[in-house]
Amino acid sequence: MKISMAPIVSAFSQAGGLGCLASAGMQIDDLRQQIRQVRQQTDAPFAVNIAWTVPNSIEIFQVLLEEEIGFIISSAGNPEKNLEQLKSVGVKVFQVVADVSQAKRAEAQGLDAVITKGYESGGLNSLEAVATLPLVPMVVDAISIPVIAAGGIGDGRSMAAAMALGAEGVLMGTRFLTSDESPVHIDIKKALLNAKDTDTVSVSFKNFSARFWKNKKSSSIIGHEPLWDLATDLNQEIDADSQLVGAGQIVGLDTAVMPVAEIIQQVNTTGKTSGIDFSSGGSMSLLNEKHKPDVFLQDMKRVTNLVITMRGLPQPIISKVRGVAYVVGVNIALNGDFVLASHDAQFCQVFINLGAILDGGGTFLLPRLVGMVKARELAMLGDVVKGREAESLGLIYKSTADEDLDLAVESLAIELAKKPCLAMSLIKEGLNKSFDMSLNEAMNWEAVHQTVALQSPEHKKRVKAFLAKGHKKRN
Ligand SMILES: Cc1cc2nc3c(=O)[nH]c(=O)nc-3n(C[C@H](O)[C@H](O)[C@H](O)COP(=O)(O)O)c2cc1C
Repeated sequence: MKISMAPIVSAFSQAGGLGCLASAGMQIDDLRQQIRQVRQQTDAPFAVNIAWTVPNSIEIFQVLLEEEIGFIISSAGNPEKNLEQLKSVGVKVFQVVADVSQAKRAEAQGLDAVITKGYESGGLNSLEAVATLPLVPMVVDAISIPVIAAGGIGDGRSMAAAMALGAEGVLMGTRFLTSDESPVHIDIKKALLNAKDTDTVSVSFKNFSARFWKNKKSSSIIGHEPLWDLATDLNQEIDADSQLVGAGQIVGLDTAVMPVAEIIQQVNTTGKTSGIDFSSGGSMSLLNEKHKPDVFLQDMKRVTNLVITMRGLPQPIISKVRGVAYVVGVNIALNGDFVLASHDAQFCQVFINLGAILDGGGTFLLPRLVGMVKARELAMLGDVVKGREAESLGLIYKSTADEDLDLAVESLAIELAKKPCLAMSLIKEGLNKSFDMSLNEAMNWEAVHQTVALQSPEHKKRVKAFLAKGHKKRN
């Protein structure tokens, strides 16, 4: 289908993600040229996907070795026969898996991470049909290498959910089909933007299934083999109904056509779940069950993963707090880079009143945010602090009237999305480290990372634009 090509891949990597060039359907000269194009457009790392069932997979594999690709996403089969060669060149291999046994095999083979692909996702799926929500925690429990969740992830809510299940990252396909950089024809993009939750169909073949956007074409191909023969170029000017378009169930999400960089920023800057916002923490009724030490430790491992991921993410995170932020939820919310809350939102380090200690990173975070004296008060008295007071304490960035909160978050997200990505991620990293560095260390860190920032294309572009503006004013 040739969708994940150089422009979308470089835009994705340039914006702080790991773009993935899909090799399926490409002739090797074409693939080589695409790889080189990505390298011309960005210095950032990117991956190449190899789907082992495509007829020219062996030639594709050779190209990846020759081009010294650093990250390979291996799918539709596994790299068993090529393992030795892969390991000898030190390439990182992420294996797409659809169930626990496949994940265990990938770990046993010494691969670097697995990508769990839930049945709701677009493209090829397993006939076993396990969905993302049950698949991720089961795989996380079964293996020790990192787990990246794919399938049904379309924005910050689903990304936060996947991370709460223990995933260390997410992979998204369908959401980017309608990005500016996607080569899909605008008529198909429009049709996908209008699609509903029920507008995909899973078609079963002999050894796998595949999920497509529901139209005349996808309804007519049941039983057709091999599937690769049916692939068409989706940038052609032909009736959208006659095209076979891979798409996952998340296609029904209300979105718009926008640049990849903006989608990535948006993904990381919302965290709302229906009604309560992601900072509301767990249900208190579960606490008794959680008292079993092993269950509790497992849960805490997930929270640790989530918080470390939030802090390490190159993009800024906005936490939107509308309701109550108690227990672990309050500290997950406070780990966002910007916390916006309604005046009536409640922040409470309620732990002391439950005979518990701070978690979700609260012990680390509170003194850094409000100073030790206030941290003691919040943690040892466990009083409720409302939005306005939280703002005046410096605990959160801003408090607004409830009806203005969504707009305030959206405006901030848009403002942040316009800033240069690399500088933003380095500033975030530096500030997160600041309390742990001496002045000397901080200045050394700045010197090294400023050198990186000043060599980036985004810096050069900004300086050029700045000088051009100044020049115009003088004239
Ligand atoms: C149109 C389309 C084409 C895809 N092509 C490939 C592919 O060539 N190789 C692959 O490993 N996965 C492919 N996928 C799957 C994606 O890499 C990703 O796992 C999936 O889209 C994630 O789920 P989502 O669709 O719910 O975001 C494709 C997905 C779509 C929607």
